[in-house]
Amino acid sequence: MPVSAQGCTVVTGAGGGIGAATAQALALEGWHLVLTDRDRPALEQVRAGLAAAGALADILPGDMTQEEDVAAVVAHAAGQVGGMRGFVAAAGVPGSVQAVPDYPTDTFKQVLDVNVVGTFLCMKHGLPAMSGGGSFVAVGSTSSIRGRANLAGYVASKHAVLGLVRTAALEHVGTAVRVNAVLPGPTQTAMIDAINDMAARRIPSGGRVERAVSAPLATPAQVADTVVFLLSPASRHLNGSAIVVDGGSTLA
Ligand SMILES: NC(=O)c1ccc[n+]([C@@H]2O[C@H](COP(=O)([O-])OP(=O)(O)OC[C@H]3O[C@@H](n4cnc5c(N)ncnc54)[C@H](O)[C@@H]3O)[C@@H](O)[C@H]2O)c1
Repeated sequence: MPVSAQGCTVVTGAGGGIGAATAQALALEGWHLVLTDRDRPALEQVRAGLAAAGALADILPGDMTQEEDVAAVVAHAAGQVGGMRGFVAAAGVPGSVQAVPDYPTDTFKQVLDVNVVGTFLCMKHGLPAMSGGGSFVAVGSTSSIRGRANLAGYVASKHAVLGLVRTAALEHVGTAVRVNAVLPGPTQTAMIDAINDMAARRIPSGGRVERAVSAPLATPAQVADTVVFLLSPASRHLNGSAIVVDGGSTLA
């Protein structure tokens, strides 16, 4: 069983852009990684990349909307030497790109299931398992604090993620557990490509299309650096915070 300088942290959504970059950044800081994603091949690829760089990671494929999958990941991480000290909830989906009257109700429910229920389950199981203290980071979005046309499911879900973070943070005031959010602006990952593809295909010309790609995109590594900070002792007095990582691009 590997012993790390930092202890063990879970990263969900670790098969994709921000989660995978976060895994790489945390490995460099000496964290022992427990990585999960519903995409097993992607997860295996991330593990291979980490191994090539000399870092070890345990991978447990799972669907974060399924309580038993979340519980299994947490049990594995909590069983590592030093216990579970970090949890990064990065799994997420964009949903559809359509105005509210056209937005498919099933899609709306699916987005809330992954982004909100998934984050809730990670908190429900992950927070009590940080018995020795720890830092939980939820990946919200600048869509946690602003509206965005044609993205009802995503924006509603990310507002809810911030509400969950603030609630759980209050429940842990005065304890050794902290709960914070990182709110990335548009970041160069498969998700932003999917959103732009959907926008190009589905919004009729002349409609109000708020393209995600405007100002320079963040790199996943830039977002990951802020997650590293939130998991480090340097952020020890942050609880319930939401750190925007957008280079100022979504201020207006
Ligand atoms: N890319 C952006 O512009 C951007 C901006 C702000 C916030 N975010 C957020 O960052 C997080 C990561 O997104 P990304 O941009 O890296 O996208 P991504 O699509 O590259 O990665 C998301 C990962 O989550 C996984 N996933 C989805 N549903 C899951 C489930 N139910 N269980 C387990 N894994 C699941 C996917 O398989 C994928 O590997 C998301 O929460 C997203 O909302 C992204």
